[in-house]
Amino acid sequence: MAQLWGGRFTKETDQLVYNFNASITFDKRFYKQDIRGSLAHVAMLAKQGILTEEEKEQITDGLNGILKDVESGKLEISDKYEDIHSFVEATLIDRIGDPGKKLHTGRSRNDQVALDMKLFTRDEIQEIDAQVKELLEVILHVMEENVETYMPGFTHLQKAQPITLAHHMGAYFEMFRRDHERLKDISKRMNTCPLGSGALAGTTYPLDREYTAELLGFDGPTLNSMDGVSDRDYLLELLSALSIMMMHLSRFCEEICIWNSNEYRFVNDDAYSTGSSIMPQKKNPDIAELVRGKTGRVYGALNALLTTMKGIPLAYNKDMQEDKEWAFDAMDTAKGCITLFAGMLKTMQFNKDRMEESAKHGFTNATDAADYLVNHGVPFRDAHGIVGKLVLTCIEKKIPLDELPLEEYRKISPVFEEDIYKAIDLETCVNKRVTIGAPGKDAMAKSIAAYQKYMEEY
Ligand code: ARG
Repeated sequence: MAQLWGGRFTKETDQLVYNFNASITFDKRFYKQDIRGSLAHVAMLAKQGILTEEEKEQITDGLNGILKDVESGKLEISDKYEDIHSFVEATLIDRIGDPGKKLHTGRSRNDQVALDMKLFTRDEIQEIDAQVKELLEVILHVMEENVETYMPGFTHLQKAQPITLAHHMGAYFEMFRRDHERLKDISKRMNTCPLGSGALAGTTYPLDREYTAELLGFDGPTLNSMDGVSDRDYLLELLSALSIMMMHLSRFCEEICIWNSNEYRFVNDDAYSTGSSIMPQKKNPDIAELVRGKTGRVYGALNALLTTMKGIPLAYNKDMQEDKEWAFDAMDTAKGCITLFAGMLKTMQFNKDRMEESAKHGFTNATDAADYLVNHGVPFRDAHGIVGKLVLTCIEKKIPLDELPLEEYRKISPVFEEDIYKAIDLETCVNKRVTIGAPGKDAMAKSIAAYQKYMEEY
């Protein structure tokens, strides 16, 4: 047991209590951020005349030495300390003696941990966002290659109208770019520095909080010390953004599982599938299923932290220590999933003939047949009824609309002429749709150009 606060206690802490209370096993993960915060704090204390230049030099060298030795593996972060803050401070005192005891002047572990977690989260957001960028690049590439890859678009999992693979991918481009925008918003909103909030009520030392904020790359200090030590909104916002992003990945994975099924056979991916130990014929989309499954963990983290925070009175309470493990797990899970998913999408083979064939069946051109009548003066509601009857005839004859002879068309409506076949041809159906955001070739060219520009400015 190595703790910083034994002075007013008359009994040793029970080992079980100590273990239950300690956070070193997981907060050692932000040793780098903890040392970075201490370096800024010490620089500020010296600038304000609270430490001498010499003390600052000694402490700074000591902290840099600890950082170097932890990185090289020479110094192990031992679990016998209560938390990472205690470990760094105790090691510093061990190494440089009395000056090390001044490190914690004008600071509490409450503002220290608030800072460390913010610094760590800020770094993680950068990493996650870089991965989202890579994923968007892969999606955009698939779009560029597949402007003329026809496939059915679905509603209710029923074939609805024909689209292209580029158009389908574009929907996901939109989702993940919103995820990127959310991460950007969070980074901006969270970028205030809690250091100097003290335990809850600031300190009596003449700290220059603007200086430490600047040294640590923040836009400025937090403006209320009670909120400074107890705000975890930025984490909730991140967990919420990650939950939404996982939901997007999960939907995409669900589609891949469907497309990979024996009935669809739209995609094939040996690299990201696995076999069965018993059934030799199997090729299962395990990676897509796992990403879909891991979504639950990230939702769990959001729910757990929301629930932990809801009953906490101002200011710091130990409940807040529970923010870390869940948040770390959610960050790791999200990062793992985006990377795996982007890799999977990159190597995935699309069975284009199969997709096009599928788009030609299921009457995906029925709306276009109705539109043909509308263009010849038939009110839409009547046209809908006429084409409904044609579909029924085709179902009886087991043929698509394209194969129904003209006289059958004309039996139901004399408005139909030979040019109906051109009007309901798959390419026409797609490429006539050129309003903003539609799948037609010209509309897609504009979307793709906008996305290319977006990626250049990312
Ligand atoms: N391990 C603690 C946490 O993660 C650090 C802050 C401890 N502060 C305190 N007053 N006990 O929240």
